[in-house]
Amino acid sequence: MQPKLIIHGGAGSSLKGKGGVEAVRQALSAIVDQVYHKLNAGVNAVDAVVLGCRLLEDHPRFNAGTGSVLQSDGQIRMSASLMDGSRQSFSGVINVSRVQNPINMAQFLQQFPDRVLSDYGAAELARELQIPCFNPLTDLRLNEWLQERQENFQKSMAGVVAEAELSTPNARRGTIGVVALDQEGKLAVGTSTGGKGFERVGRVSDSAMPAGNYANTYAAVSCTGIGEDIIDECLAPRIVIRVTDGTSLLAAMERSFTEAMANKRDFGAIALDSQGNIGWGKTSEVLLAAYHNGEKYGDTLELPDGMQVGVI
Ligand code: GLY
Repeated sequence: MQPKLIIHGGAGSSLKGKGGVEAVRQALSAIVDQVYHKLNAGVNAVDAVVLGCRLLEDHPRFNAGTGSVLQSDGQIRMSASLMDGSRQSFSGVINVSRVQNPINMAQFLQQFPDRVLSDYGAAELARELQIPCFNPLTDLRLNEWLQERQENFQKSMAGVVAEAELSTPNARRGTIGVVALDQEGKLAVGTSTGGKGFERVGRVSDSAMPAGNYANTYAAVSCTGIGEDIIDECLAPRIVIRVTDGTSLLAAMERSFTEAMANKRDFGAIALDSQGNIGWGKTSEVLLAAYHNGEKYGDTLELPDGMQVGVI
């Protein structure tokens, strides 16, 4: 079957001008091309998702891995999860520090009975696996935090992407995610984040919960935006279960995002179903998503403001 791929680099308020859009498009399209090439060569959905997440984590522009935002105490704690739709198996790490690729730890945990580890347990696993110590801090994120400290943390969260200048006062949120359908028709999804930025120590992100990252044999969804809103809507399983029960992906997305708008939620999601339909939805101003449908690249960087849902 023709493989399909959709990735995201966050959701939030508008990127600053065209320069921001073009830079994000360049980053996302290079990653889509690289991962889609692998899928086309026969790589399975799980490995393609992990590769895509790793590339997004390594890109300093996005809030995951390198370039993660700092929490209120000035530390970086990252969360990531992976769900293999064909086995309906979820794994993840919550608030892990000093590693380059949290998604690799989530993949390793797929084979164990204890599949979600938080801070201390995740640190022990990193030590057991002899994962080299890595500092994901970038100057832009440090400066963002230092500026926020001067203003006594008035802002409720950090920027969705690191821009050449410091963030605007508008709240923006980041996370990265990848959804893939491989040649055998198997689905997988991965999501990774540095969190909201400036959050209370111990806060748990949706990105390492099924609410933000869920898949089965029918559909797979990765979410981005305000974690608490995603958790309150239980967004990823809400869409996946609707598709499982016979609703089309388009109708499942439309219904879920209409409900979210009524509840004033602020987020976005990307999705695939087992038929190869590619979907996205947002209530936020922008959704930084990009896809490959087997014929061409496309993205959602310049959708109009407000709720938008699309399936191709
Ligand atoms: N969606 C990322 C977070 O709220 O942590």
